[in-house]
Amino acid sequence: MNNYITVILMIILSLQSCNNDSYDKIDAKAMVVSAHPLASDVGIAVLKKGGNAADATIAVQFALAVVYPSAGNIGGGGFFVYRSNKGNYSTLDYREKAPLIAYRDMYLDSNNKVIKNSSLYSHKAVGVPGTVDGMVEIHQKYGNLKWEELVQPSIDLAENGFVVTSRESKKLNRFNANHNVSDFYNPYYKDQFKEGDTIKLPDLAQTLKFIRDYKREGFYSGKVAENLITEMKNNEGFITENDLKSYKSIWREPIIGNYKNYKLISMGPPSSGGVLLMQMLKMAEQFPLKKYKFHSKESIHIMTEIERRSFADRAKHFGDPDFYDVPISELLDSSYLQTRANNIDLNIATPSDNIYAGSWNASESDETTHFSIVDQYGNASSVTTTLNGSFGSGIVVKNSGFLLNNEMDDFSIKPGHPNMYGLIGGEANSIIPEKRMLSSMTPTILEKNGQLFMIVGTPGGSTIISAVFQVILNVIEYGMSIEESVNASRFHHQWYPDEIKLEKVISKDSSLIRELQSLNHRLNFVNSMNRVDAILIENHQLFGGADNRGDDHISFF
Ligand code: GLY
Repeated sequence: MNNYITVILMIILSLQSCNNDSYDKIDAKAMVVSAHPLASDVGIAVLKKGGNAADATIAVQFALAVVYPSAGNIGGGGFFVYRSNKGNYSTLDYREKAPLIAYRDMYLDSNNKVIKNSSLYSHKAVGVPGTVDGMVEIHQKYGNLKWEELVQPSIDLAENGFVVTSRESKKLNRFNANHNVSDFYNPYYKDQFKEGDTIKLPDLAQTLKFIRDYKREGFYSGKVAENLITEMKNNEGFITENDLKSYKSIWREPIIGNYKNYKLISMGPPSSGGVLLMQMLKMAEQFPLKKYKFHSKESIHIMTEIERRSFADRAKHFGDPDFYDVPISELLDSSYLQTRANNIDLNIATPSDNIYAGSWNASESDETTHFSIVDQYGNASSVTTTLNGSFGSGIVVKNSGFLLNNEMDDFSIKPGHPNMYGLIGGEANSIIPEKRMLSSMTPTILEKNGQLFMIVGTPGGSTIISAVFQVILNVIEYGMSIEESVNASRFHHQWYPDEIKLEKVISKDSSLIRELQSLNHRLNFVNSMNRVDAILIENHQLFGGADNRGDDHISFF
């Protein structure tokens, strides 16, 4: 009898949680798709208890900080895009900001040269973290369940331990081999991780308990803040008590636009993602992409040229809107975008040297992680969060057990000097105390005929925007299921370097490669690009797309 019950239970469990290659079409009421099975399960458990998408967002964010340390975080930041079941939208910016004593040339030596790795792997690379404040803000505005119930699952994971997957074990081994962290406290150190090993993180569990019990104050003041400030003082870092006290996440105006009969809600500056995505889709609208078919010479060429033009605009016109007047309406002006698309030559690539940021008369890891949630009430959230590089700065706050970001590298540390994603920038994105560094994160929600249609986003630095652009077109223009769409191979162009980055799988079609080269495109093959996690809603059914490039996972009920 006992065996019989066990088998039934196993069948029920297997129906409620599935990995990225077994899910097709299940009549679910609620769904969470994230980079880690344990985080997706935490989110769905919160929804089952009567929580909403905002509650699940908070629980998943904290769970990822434990089980997915390369990008999940409490020492970083992110962006939250929310659509209520009544069709109201809001977007929260919990991006890191520059410390009060940061200054424009802080990464340059006396000869005006960039000090190697200083914006990436030093205590000066760390921006003031925004995640905890962001989660508290989301809870105050939308939370349904008690705060403690949302933090407790991550405490349990950190305290009781969690089992590493094969991919995660490799990532942790790379982290331990690549980062010179021997001088620093490193709770992730082990000679060699292998699949099935258990990691316990008692210091992180204690930090999460402070956050559970004291919310914002549990992180930005008290013991955790003291440990963070000591870490900074002992290592020439810039973050002070005042920085922690004054950090505030900000509700921003969403970027709202249309592609054909679809409405998009996405993140505005200090992310460039929403505006660039809208630019790309508006330019794409002017070409018969469906007729050209998926990954034809014509469609890759046109989309590449579109991406090239938008990234040229990004380099010049984007920064923190509290410090720089980002010309959003000019960048999204339909006649501007039409002119920009009109000069795409269908027969030849335009060299990036011949493309400049647009101008107007009057004014002017690859590591991050994304999760998508739809609750049983019809609310949706689309959240992208990051430490910037894989494991951020690699610095773990001693006695508090959490990794710190290296988001300062997303500033333009010197005009024309590329950041870790090869992106260049200018004055708009220069370092100023308390300014937010420019991002490419693109958490996005789509509506079709006024109804919730898609929740989508991805990690991947600069490639985020192109990936979201392509996944949306895969569904709308090429008729793919959401699962096919996120798993389809991708390409990316970002103005400079003047090359198309293609996933190697595309190179198998050598005739296509020759055709692209005949259009003067320079090609750079890479193993694998972003991990997109998305949900599609059609006829009131939820369909999950968890990228098979990673351990990404769909949980539902
Ligand atoms: N750190 C990557 C981004 O925000 O775009």
